[in-house]
Parts: sequence; structure tokens; C-alpha cells
Amino acid sequence: MSKPSLQNIDISTRYSTITEEEIYTVVTEFGTPLYVVDEQIILDNLSTLETSFNNYNGKTSIAYSLKSNFNPSIIEILNKESILFDLTSLGELYFFEQCRANIDNVLYTSVTEEEDEYYSAMQSGISKFVIGSYNGLINLISASESLNISPKVLVRINPEIDVKADISASSGMGKFGIPLSNSSNDDAFYIINKIFDNNLLQFHGIHFHLGSQISDPSCFIQTLDLLSSLIKQLKSSINDFTISILDIGGGTPVEYTKPVPSPEYIGKTITDKLNEFTNSLDISPTLIVESGRYLSAESSILISRIVNSKSYPDCKFHIIDAGYNLLLDSALMKQEYPIDIITRSQSTTLENIKIGGRLCDTLDTFNISPEKKFPRASINDLVVFRNVGAYSIVFNMPFHCQTKPAILLRRTDHSIDIIREPEKIEDLFNSEGGNLSSKQ
Ligand SMILES: Cc1ncc(COP(=O)(O)O)c(C=O)c1O
Repeated sequence: MSKPSLQNIDISTRYSTITEEEIYTVVTEFGTPLYVVDEQIILDNLSTLETSFNNYNGKTSIAYSLKSNFNPSIIEILNKESILFDLTSLGELYFFEQCRANIDNVLYTSVTEEEDEYYSAMQSGISKFVIGSYNGLINLISASESLNISPKVLVRINPEIDVKADISASSGMGKFGIPLSNSSNDDAFYIINKIFDNNLLQFHGIHFHLGSQISDPSCFIQTLDLLSSLIKQLKSSINDFTISILDIGGGTPVEYTKPVPSPEYIGKTITDKLNEFTNSLDISPTLIVESGRYLSAESSILISRIVNSKSYPDCKFHIIDAGYNLLLDSALMKQEYPIDIITRSQSTTLENIKIGGRLCDTLDTFNISPEKKFPRASINDLVVFRNVGAYSIVFNMPFHCQTKPAILLRRTDHSIDIIREPEKIEDLFNSEGGNLSSKQ
């Protein structure tokens, strides 16, 4: 592909550390669509998150939520930083083990909470579990009795409050967590008492996860107020009640196209309240801050190519060689990603554009705010989506027999590694039950 020149755009501020030159180089070698992950941004964001919470009087640990991006090289990068990992399934555990990551750093928060699952997770050496239902507790007890293991248990509460976030995880009578007050066994006070009554389980602390892409941290304050009453009740009913961990879940937002509160602001708001909260209750738990999106999203770009174009009186409609099979949240969540166009056009005119993906589905149109204008572009120019590292690669799917593209990693020394080979169409065919002649 011939090298386009970029007009009137300060690319250095737009691709973080990945330069225009590097984009051309990788596209020439690997084609499009193509993901590129920047290791330095993962490390920088981890460091920002750590410092954002250092106002807390106690110890703080960051836990990476593997669900946002389970690429083995990303697991390896973060494992070297000796942080914790939030795992949710035996599949994630398999990935984690294959990466020879440190099992002592795992916090296992299952959605299904099956006995067999707990049994396998304990056999692998996981010692910290977050339970989110009474049945989950019973299954964890059965698995630990079978193995005669004494796991550390956190109880996931659901504060059932309104959360300002793109995805709220705290709705009343919701899927996740245990209500603070409920007439059935699925009641936080009842379950924590049950853990203290059990001679194998060790109560370790409380967990909540309020949502993803949280735009107002006041939900954390509200939750801590509710939690304070629960802890007072527990202290008065259980001798030696103590809490070693307070895990406040994920939700640190990323700036896609709308402003969001900074991690520093969120961290300061939460830790000011936490210092008050722990002092008044006379407890000093380790704070765990989980994060998927903030640690992985900003590190990655998706580079696509314009393969067709139509002209309308008020806009240009470009069709690109990527689709929501590579950025599912653009269809599912109507997520608008920051978009940059790299064009050969010498024109300085900016124009309204629409961008459609390659899938035969009306939903496969990328969201662009109507007021935005872009450089004039045509077939073979590049469309770059930024901040795509979280909840996109993990959702890659073969709709329309689309193969998964390569993922490249730009190392901190700027060398480039292929961290996922592009899938071959023959492999997709075979994995879908092809190779029919061998079955006859
Ligand atoms: C329990 C739990 N923790 C952490 C996260 C990560 O959230 P985020 O990626 O918004 O930081 C999630 C996301 O679904 C979650 O369910």
C-alpha cells in the first residue's frame, strides 16, 4: 500500500506513543484490520491507578480484571508487576495458569458458583473466593469439605443503589451480589454469620462492584454508608469480627469521546471517605481496586482500511474492512470510539462522514457524533479506532466467516511482537466442523 500523508493533524497527541510512521510500517507488513497494543500505556495506567488511591491510610492493591482483555501477553506484562487478578471462570484460570502467573494473586469471583467449579479452582491452588449468593456459599462449603481446604471468603454485596455508569451492576433484585437486607437466605448479614459459624471457611472481607465506566463516584460514598451499618451490626453480633479486605470492584472510566472524571479525582473522593469510614469503625482492611477497562482500553488501537465509499449531498459514507465483529460494543453499547482518519488527500477541507463496517447488518455502523468533521478520505485510506483494548478483542466473533486479525504488541523499547497470529480461514472452517470428508 502506498504511504498516505497526514494533513493538519498532530498525530503525536492522538496515537499516544504509536507514531504515524509505525502505523504505516505495521500496515504495510501485516495489512488491515489490525490491532496494536502499547505496553507502555498499560504500565503507565497501572501506575496512575496506584497513585490515585495512595491517599488511603491502609494498604492498597490493584487487581486486573482479566475479562476485559485475556491476551496472554497482557497477562504476562501485568503478572510481572505483582498485582492481583480478578478471575471469573475456569477458562480464565486456564489462561492464567498457562501464562505461569502467580496463583496466590488470584481473587476468584464466579457468576455461576457451581460446586465443581469451586472444586477445580481450589485444586489449582486458588485460596480467595468472592461469593455472591447463598447457593454459592453452600457449594463453596461442599467443595472445601471434599478437599479439606480452608478458603478465604469475601462476600459480594449488592447495595441496590442507582449508579451513574454506562453499565450499572447494582440494580435492585439484580444478577450480582447479595442484598444488604432481604427476607430470604440471600441476605448479607445472614451469610456472613453463616461463614463465621463454619469451621473451614475464613471470612476475609467484603466486595462490591457497582458498574463499568462509572461517571460519578458518589455511588461509592453511598455504598460505604450502607456498608457501615452492616459492619456495625456484624461487630455487635459476632465476637472478634474483623475485616481484612475491602474490595470496591472496578469501574474507573476511560475517556472515549465524552469527558469522564479522572482516576485521581475518583481515587481522592473514595479514599477521603474510606479513611473516615475505617476510622469510625476501627477497622483497617486492605483496599482492593479492581480494573479491567482503565488498565487495558487506552493501550490499543484498531487500524482498518476504507474499502468502499459513497457520496451524499451532506456526507461521505465509508465502508471499512472491520466491523462490530472486532468492536462489539459499538453495536451493543452504542459506544463511540475516538476515530482518526489517515488520508492521502492533500485537501484541508473537513467533512461529515459516516462509517459502516463490512458486515451485512444495519447495526454495523460506527457511532460518530453529528458535529464531528474529518479530513477528506477515500478508498485505501486508514481509519484508526482508539481506546479499543477493553471488551473488544475478547468479543471477536466469526459472523460472516470473518477470521480474527493479528494483534501486535509495541514493547516499551518500541520493538514490535506479534502476540496473536491472524486466524486462517482454513482453521476457522475446520473449527466450525468443516473438513467433512474426514468424517465419512
Ligand atoms: C466483579 C467485577 N470486577 C471488576 C470488573 C471490571 O470493571 P471495569 O472494566 O469497568 O473496571 C467487572 C466488570 O464487569 C466485574 O464484574
